[in-house]
Amino acid sequence: MNPQDLIALKRDGKEFTAAEIRLVVDGIASGSFSDAQVAALSMAIFLNGMTFDERLELTLSMRDSGTVFAWDLDGPVLDKHSTGGIGDCVSLVLAPALAACGVFVPMISARGLGHTGGTVDKLEAIPGYQTNIGPEMFRSVVSRVGCAVVGQTGEIAPADGRLFGIRSETATVPTIDLITSSILSKKLAGGIEGLVLDVKVGSGAFCRDRRDGEALAGELVRVARRAECPTVAMLTSMDQPLAQNAGNALEVMSTLDVLDGSTNGTSRLQRLTERLGGELLAIGSIASSVADGENRIRNSIASGSAAETFGRMVCELGGPADILERKHDRLGKSPVCSPVPAPESGHVGSIDCRRLGMVVVELGGGRLRAGDRIDHRVGLADICEIGSRIEEGEPLAWIHAKARDDVDRLLPEVTAAFEIRQDRRSDDQMIRGRVAE
Ligand code: URA
Repeated sequence: MNPQDLIALKRDGKEFTAAEIRLVVDGIASGSFSDAQVAALSMAIFLNGMTFDERLELTLSMRDSGTVFAWDLDGPVLDKHSTGGIGDCVSLVLAPALAACGVFVPMISARGLGHTGGTVDKLEAIPGYQTNIGPEMFRSVVSRVGCAVVGQTGEIAPADGRLFGIRSETATVPTIDLITSSILSKKLAGGIEGLVLDVKVGSGAFCRDRRDGEALAGELVRVARRAECPTVAMLTSMDQPLAQNAGNALEVMSTLDVLDGSTNGTSRLQRLTERLGGELLAIGSIASSVADGENRIRNSIASGSAAETFGRMVCELGGPADILERKHDRLGKSPVCSPVPAPESGHVGSIDCRRLGMVVVELGGGRLRAGDRIDHRVGLADICEIGSRIEEGEPLAWIHAKARDDVDRLLPEVTAAFEIRQDRRSDDQMIRGRVAE
């Protein structure tokens, strides 16, 4: 069957057989489908949808389009995925914390696109850190250190790599039909034995409301479980940035602040890391319950063993050996740093989180097109949390920019992202739900 016939099937609303899905995936991975044909097919799927069986087959075929890791290690092989948000650097804390608890974490991550940041960009804020490594080095670092957080290379789910690139240029990203297989094919290619999904909901998330988040979480969990990967999804808030910093080097700083105890275990970033890690340690039978798992993650941070593992991973992947001791020297600083004064006194009632994410992009810290270069130093720091009391003129956040003009242009945007109220509303609820089947 040629590409035109396959596209016509989906255009006319028919269901693909497993064999037809494999033809499609082979065509995408081998390049025998042109970009125009992949784009037309993506739009046909976007408009006409796919059944559960089609999503499962697409996931497995895309997983198998490249290297699928198999591990023989002395502990469970587990991973986490977030659907993306602002100030979401959980992966950087969680991977070493899990490794310090006896888990192996082969984490294949993505770059940022649009208002949400990407783990690979954050790691590349660390001078020398290599995110683009071959399978042998990946295998070696995971086995010796316990975790390696790297980018997707041509060997991992290459069909998804090409399909996602074309989807992001053709307005065909936001559909559960394609998101499910895109996320899971890469994760399953890592050879994992369990997965926790952090499905973000709120003003800065792809899923603005809880119902959309539940639908995506439910589908991801169902497909992952049918692919024999025990999986739990958490619905968590993206109504405000997770860390108090947003931007690449700034989020690495937030990560190090948690790992070296500067935040005394109280940050939202640490609390979510503990919960997601607790879920994974229970899935991997290292912990007797989620609560026991949360305790273990907390202890790995408090004892410094998670920090030590992070330092080893950074060093093994080409970064500086003293990132923990000299974090302020090692991470690049933006030339300009300016406060955003609160226009009135009151309490932070709500935050337009997407708007803050777009400010980071406008500062040069994110990208609108795949392949755009970014400035790792810029972003927003010390962002006020929902519920906090603020006096007129005190900073709602600090803008880290490459030039004064950027501050002048973007200061009104940052100010407008904060709603200041006279009464104090209840705090933002971080955990909004859990989907396990
Ligand atoms: N992230 C992915 O990896 N794929 C999608 O389709 C959407 C977000």
